[in-house]
Amino acid sequence: MPSILLGLAGLVAVWLLYALTSWRRHWQRAKASGIQCYLSPCSPQWIPWKITHRIWIPLIKLLPQSSWEAWLPPLTADFSWKWRYDHFDKYGDTFVLVHPFGLHMFTAEASAISAITTRRDHFPKHTALYGILSQFGDNVVTSEGLLWRRHRRATAASFSERNIALAFAESIRQSLGLIRFWEITNGPGATLRTVERDTMRLALNIIGYVGFGLRLPWPQETMPEDNAMSAKYGSVEPPEGYKMSFVTAIETLLENALTLLLVPSWLLRLIPYEGVREAVRSRQQYEQFINELMEAKIVDTSKGERTDGGMDIMGQLVRSFCHVDSTSSPPREAEPGTVRTREEIRGNAFVMIVAGHETTANAIHFTLIHMASCAASQRRLHRELDELLRDKKVEDLDYEGYFQPLMGSMVGACMNETLRVLPPVIEIPKVATPDRDQPLVVDGEVCSVPAGTAITLSAAGVHMNPKHWPTEPSRLRPSQHDLLDYVPERWLRTSDEKLDALAGQPEGHGSCKGREAGPWLFQPERGAYIPFSVGARACLGRRIAQAEVVAALTVLFREYSVELAVDEWATDEEVERMDRQQRRDLYQRAVDKRDATIRKASSLLTLKLRGDGVALRFVKRGEERFVDWLGLPDSP
Ligand SMILES: *[C@@H]1O[C@H](CO)[C@@H](O)[C@H](O)[C@H]1NC(C)=O
Repeated sequence: MPSILLGLAGLVAVWLLYALTSWRRHWQRAKASGIQCYLSPCSPQWIPWKITHRIWIPLIKLLPQSSWEAWLPPLTADFSWKWRYDHFDKYGDTFVLVHPFGLHMFTAEASAISAITTRRDHFPKHTALYGILSQFGDNVVTSEGLLWRRHRRATAASFSERNIALAFAESIRQSLGLIRFWEITNGPGATLRTVERDTMRLALNIIGYVGFGLRLPWPQETMPEDNAMSAKYGSVEPPEGYKMSFVTAIETLLENALTLLLVPSWLLRLIPYEGVREAVRSRQQYEQFINELMEAKIVDTSKGERTDGGMDIMGQLVRSFCHVDSTSSPPREAEPGTVRTREEIRGNAFVMIVAGHETTANAIHFTLIHMASCAASQRRLHRELDELLRDKKVEDLDYEGYFQPLMGSMVGACMNETLRVLPPVIEIPKVATPDRDQPLVVDGEVCSVPAGTAITLSAAGVHMNPKHWPTEPSRLRPSQHDLLDYVPERWLRTSDEKLDALAGQPEGHGSCKGREAGPWLFQPERGAYIPFSVGARACLGRRIAQAEVVAALTVLFREYSVELAVDEWATDEEVERMDRQQRRDLYQRAVDKRDATIRKASSLLTLKLRGDGVALRFVKRGEERFVDWLGLPDSP
């Protein structure tokens, strides 16, 4: 026994010595890089730390603050969301953590982000971190190099203007379905407690169409009889041969994606907990659904049949797998080998669902809950919609005529502002190539990023970096700048205001670009606004997502206002009897509660609210209780 213990102690000692030497060596490399650097006892990406760090943090905080304040925040889950720009403000817009086994750079600096995303060969994606997205197969998001090029070629065709127009139209149709769903299930103007779920359903219905050519209905809508596939996949009940509906399978799968990835299947099967069983079942059901859909498309394609000419990214992948290019007529042989295996179709299908589901749903959901307290912004949004649409019905809006104008209006401004304050993906992982150091301008100086450095681009950080955005003093909190606040108008300030705001800012700052008729649109400097990332690896679906969100917001706000529900504190009758000051105080409680909920958002795949969510009311314009007068000067 003693000799075994002695041996173990020896091993530990050797290991410690090795770790210390290695730490020292990395420290010297970091020092030589010219970038600000700080020692950290652990890598932010070390999985055991990630899983257990909540236990250690209170213990570490017993030590003097100076010994942990530089490195502990970046090692905390959701660092970029919780600290936003604050940590960068103290420790530098770009800094490096030196841990015993390597270096990790964080940046919230637009020019650095721009350079890193542009120089794709020098700073590839950190694909090792994307395991969660590749569990069903390689795909366009998780691959690099030649493999990525091939996936990219196979998927790119799907993101054409024609398809974006189809997605825009489907989003209008589905959003109208959502409004009707709310009216039927809750009654007009009633409190909605399931907005998060419902917007998820909205996004799923749209991705069903965009990604798979399915027409998924709302519960109140009848199934399309002529479309067997849509009827099957849109059914609320599990279809023949299944234990779950398609929608439930996807929802459950996404909720449990991390558990399913990290815990081996055999272990999962042994856990006698119903939630886990459900998760395992959802994965199995999801695979069955996707396989069936894929095989059906393969059969159709090899028979030379074309689907209805609508949108269908999976169909596109299948055609490239079967080597026919059906976008040309008559269909001809496609470039061989763009999609090589069924695995790759499955992989891309999953990524499409993940990327196109929660992100878009959140953008819509978060815009609603923010706008509910921006009474003046809502009034302006309504005014602009009235001017743009006149007496055109929303169901008749076409992409060609209306998308760009809507995008340049308050609708686009709201979307942009939501993605600024709550970027769906809060951090983008990159890495410096392992073969040599990479020059990079940091804070105006040419530095050199040591080979192999892991890199985190902080979206939430750079979106709130006052060096990159014109600001005003906050009206909501004691702060020099309003970058933490939701202010859609910042995207539309008139040219004079904009130029004033920009005066006194360093040169090379964001610029304004003209827009027909009046105000100018603020355009952030490259790298300062990265909700879709930038460069060659930027989100492929960006334009589709924008078309979807703009269409949904247009439909939702055309005839309605959104208000926070106050049921928790007062009944409708009580509100009726209140004077304005009482109503204002009441509404403030709802606003405070909403803000607290937003602060607690956390990110698994994308940034999401936790807990009960925010209850809202959708009220016909003219029937508002709060947002038609809040923020206006009180009449005597
Ligand atoms: C919103 O951002 C997009 C690009 O991300 C831009 O094209 C559009 O003009 C912006 N809209 C407004 C109102 O600033």
